[in-house]
Formats: sequence, C-alpha cells, structure tokens
Amino acid sequence: MSNSEQPLLQVRNLTIAFENDETRKAVTTVENVSFDVRRGEILCIVGESGCGKSVSSMCIPRLLPSPPSRILGGEILFEGVDLLKLPIDKMREYRGKKIGVIFQDPMTALSPLVRIGDQIIEAVLIHEPEITKDCARNRALAWLEKVGIQNPELALRCYPYELSGGMQQRVMIAMCLILEPQLVIADEPTTALDVTIQAQVLDLMLQLHRKDSGMIFITHDMGVVYRMAHRVAVMYAGQVVEQADAKDFFAGPKHPYARALLEALPSHATRGKTLRAIPGQVPSPGNYAPGCRFAERCDCARPECAQTYSDLLPVGAHLVRCPYAQ
Ligand SMILES: Nc1ncnc2c1ncn2[C@@H]1O[C@H](COP(=O)(O)OP(=O)(O)O)[C@@H](O)[C@H]1O
Ligand SMILES: [Mg+2]
Repeated sequence: MSNSEQPLLQVRNLTIAFENDETRKAVTTVENVSFDVRRGEILCIVGESGCGKSVSSMCIPRLLPSPPSRILGGEILFEGVDLLKLPIDKMREYRGKKIGVIFQDPMTALSPLVRIGDQIIEAVLIHEPEITKDCARNRALAWLEKVGIQNPELALRCYPYELSGGMQQRVMIAMCLILEPQLVIADEPTTALDVTIQAQVLDLMLQLHRKDSGMIFITHDMGVVYRMAHRVAVMYAGQVVEQADAKDFFAGPKHPYARALLEALPSHATRGKTLRAIPGQVPSPGNYAPGCRFAERCDCARPECAQTYSDLLPVGAHLVRCPYAQ
C-alpha cells in the first residue's frame, strides 16, 4: 500500500479498562474497538452516553489518566506509528501539533485566569518557538476572524468568562486549528450550545475542515451525524457495532441498535411513524453479557444471542457486529 492510501489513523482492537478505586479490580469499558480515519474524512462516532466514545478517542492523544485507566490491548497507528508504544516526551510532539482536540466544555480546556490572546499565542509558541510573538499574535487574530469572531482585537484581550458559550467554543476551535493538526478530535463540541448556535458552529467546522486532515467527530445526536459525517461508527456498550460510509449508513443501517437509533430520529417520526425511544437500559461496564450486549433490548434477538459473541462482520459495504444482520 502506498503512503497516500494508508489511512491517517488506524485504531485496532483497542481495549481499555478502569481500575476501581477501592478494589483495584479492572473493569473493561471499551473492548476491541477498531476504526480508521482517512485524510479529508470526517468520521462520526455516535452512541448513547457512557458507551465509550470519549474514552476511545481520548486514548488516541493519550489523554486518559493512568491509573485509573489501563490499556489492555490494541494499536493506535498514526501515519503507521503506534502511539501506544511512544515514550511520553515523543507523544507531546503529537499533541496539539499533529493531533488537536476540541472538548465539549471550552471552560475545562481554557484557563480561566489567562486572557484569550495570551492562551492562543502561548499555544503557538510552544509548538513553533522559532517565530516571534508578534507573528504568533497576528496569526491568532487571523484565526479568530476565521472562526467568525467579530472583533478579534477585543477578543484577544478578553478572559474566557467574558465570552458567550458559542464564542468560547469558536475560540477553542481557533486554538486547535491554528496549529494545523492532521487529525482533529472533536468530542461533542456543540452539545452544550443552543440549537441555532450549534448549527452555526457545525457549519463553521465543516467549512474549516481541510482536505488533507482527518476528523473524529463525537456526538450522541444522529441529526448531527447526518450533517457532518463522511463515515459513521456506532458504539454500544463499549463496542463498535456498525461502521459504514455515511451514504450507505443512512440509506439503511444494518445493526438492530443502529436501526433503532435512526428510527428514534424526529424526521422519521414525522414521516408517519411515532417517535420511539429504545426500551430497556444500556448495560453498564462489568455487567456485559458474554454474547451480544444489545440482545436484551433487541427486537430481533434470538435465544442464543446473549451467549453468541460476534466480531464486526462485512454485510454489503457495512461492518456489523451481528451474525444475523442482512
Ligand atoms: N475516569 C474514569 N474512571 C472510571 N471509569 C470511567 C472513567 N472515565 C470513563 N469511565 C467509564 O467508561 C465508560 C465510557 O465512558 P465515556 O467514554 O466517557 O462515555 P461517552 O460515550 O459518554 O463519551 C463509562 O461507563 C464510564 O463510567
Ligand atoms: Mg463523552
């Protein structure tokens, strides 16, 4: 395979456990998660709260605290280099510069007591110490303008709390993209925003997405997936249950969980169906069935499903973790 065809990122069979504080027993929360991100592509990872979206993706820049997290297996190949094998000082060269992260809550990522301008300029200078402070400042101004901040000079002098949530998230996006990372991981970047602001920020992210970089966009909202994704990975209870190109996925998801998620979308409901939430509860880590984790909520489950473990299997152009999917 030539270098240009190699995916930017290949996550292979990633398995992560968390140690319990008291018992020190490790509970596996993410199991055999695999996905690729190609250059130019936006991969949406979608699933309900607690299914392992953040854990799987924050493991890529090695931002999971350890302990309590423990990586039990797998590979994270970034341009062919296994990030899990890198010494931590080498890993720092990837964070920010090659792999940028946009968090759900800008206030956890921005320092409350430092002016916006100083934070952005410092981020640039850490990665490019050879440029002057003036040069970094001009770049910060240009990026604040690119992310739609009306008065960039004024914003540079603001403290984070002086900006609205939407403006803070735009600053976070500027701070991430100013370093021109090859991979952007956006973890529910618009979940905390009002619906109209959310739509604006999603459009901005689409508009700023570069053809030579990849993005992992995490969300629990199928409407957002529809808008953003080139490729979709659906997670359920710590596993990827379906993966497909967005076009194929929305034309007809194959895994019963993915189908149920899509049926719960309002646009489907307005086409004559009643809005349907999936009955039952997501099992929690440590209480997973040996077989299919969705079996007890699945419309098409067979008696053997709770005991039958399935890998991700090809079904047409989809990969599906269900031996009965068609
Ligand atoms: N620091 C932690 N300590 C223990 N368990 C954790 C920690 N962070 C996440 N988990 C567990 O990992 C699972 C996946 O969490 P997460 O990836 O944050 O879900 P989400 O899909 O909502 O992003 C959850 O069950 C959560 O309880
Ligand atoms: Mg999360």
